[in-house]
Parts: sequence; C-alpha cells; structure tokens
Amino acid sequence: MVTLRELTPDDAPALQRVYSGASVRYTTGRTLTLGEVQNKIRTALTRAAEEPHRQWTWGIALENELIGRIALRRRTPAMATLSYVLREDTWGNGYATEAAQHVVRFAFTTAALDRLEAMHHPANPASGRVLAKAGFTRIGTFHRQAEDGIAVPYHAYALQRP
Ligand SMILES: CC(C)(COP(=O)(O)OP(=O)(O)OC[C@H]1O[C@@H](n2cnc3c(N)ncnc32)[C@H](O)[C@@H]1OP(=O)(O)O)[C@@H](O)C(=O)NCCC(=O)NCCS
Repeated sequence: MVTLRELTPDDAPALQRVYSGASVRYTTGRTLTLGEVQNKIRTALTRAAEEPHRQWTWGIALENELIGRIALRRRTPAMATLSYVLREDTWGNGYATEAAQHVVRFAFTTAALDRLEAMHHPANPASGRVLAKAGFTRIGTFHRQAEDGIAVPYHAYALQRP
C-alpha cells in the first residue's frame, strides 16, 4: 500500500531516480538533473503554501521509500489536471492507481474541485489504464506539438465530481 506525503528537500536524490529511465520516455524525455529536481521540490513547497492553491504535489511513498510523485494543477477555479510518475522498477503493482484514487478523493472533498482532466502520450497505454481504474473516461484527443514539430495525438480524459 502506498501513502502520499509532502515532499521535502531531502527527497531530491530519490526523486531524481524517479525521473529517469523509462519513466521519462513520454514525459520530460530525459533524466532530470539534481538541480532540476531540487527546483521541482522548491516549487512544490512554495505552491503548497499558497491560498488559493494553484498546485498540490505529493510524494508517493512505499513504506519509507519515495517511489513517485503525483500532482494536481488548478487550471480554472473548479478544474485541475492530474499527473503522476513512478520509478520504473515499481511499475505494475497498482501503486499509480492507488495514488490516483487518493488524489481523486482529495480533489472532490478537501479541494472542492468539480472536474479533473488528464492526458497521456499515445504510446503510454499504462497511464490510460491508471486513469480508467481511477474512474476517468476518455473525452478525445489533444494534439500537442513535439520538439521536432510533429503533432502528437495525446489521449485526453476527464472525471466529473460524482
Ligand atoms: C503510467 C505509470 C504511472 C503506471 O504506474 P503503475 O504503478 O505501473 O500503474 P498501475 O500498476 O496502477 O496500473 C498500470 C496498468 O497499466 C497496464 N499496463 C501496463 N503496461 C501496459 C501496456 N503496455 N499496455 C496496456 N496496459 C498496460 C497494467 O496491466 C495495469 O492495468 P491492469 O491493472 O488493468 O492490469 C508508470 O508507468 C509511469 O510512471 N510512467 C511514466 C510517467 C507517465 O507516463 N506518467 C503519465 C503521464 S501524466
């Protein structure tokens, strides 16, 4: 069972291991440097103190080990987007689904949001499964320009507050 907790500056090396290998193939495209990961943590901590929140970020922990990150980013007063990444060697155990389910509950209760949206790269079907298992439905395709200028058809999903 995973737990969600606030990130701390000491998480930087563990979070750098999360943002490497296959975990970054369809997201950042490359392993993040320690400095980039430290910046991510700093941003998360700064934004955690803002009111109203424009972003909520959690570390995903398995016992005491940090194995991933999950975040909500507010896009309108009542809608936020969900994103997550897990360290490659922890995939396939249901951990991302568990984390997403926790965050969905948080979004519709504590954060009082009405709608969540998410997207994944077409070559990353595991992420679509995570969203489906967390209750999201496919709402269409969103073309996103890749660095080479080619438009990639991302799969878009949404979940309305029950
Ligand atoms: C997407 C990701 C978070 C999944 O993490 P995870 O902990 O392995 O996810 P879960 O174990 O909860 O669920 C994975 C589901 O995908 C399925 N799956 C895995 N590989 C698959 C594939 N190639 N094709 C179809 N389904 C696949 C699994 O079978 C499982 O579904 P099931 O329970 O119905 O069998 C992880 O692969 C990751 O970090 N990827 C890189 C970052 C990323 O792409 N983030 C999403 C963008 S926001």
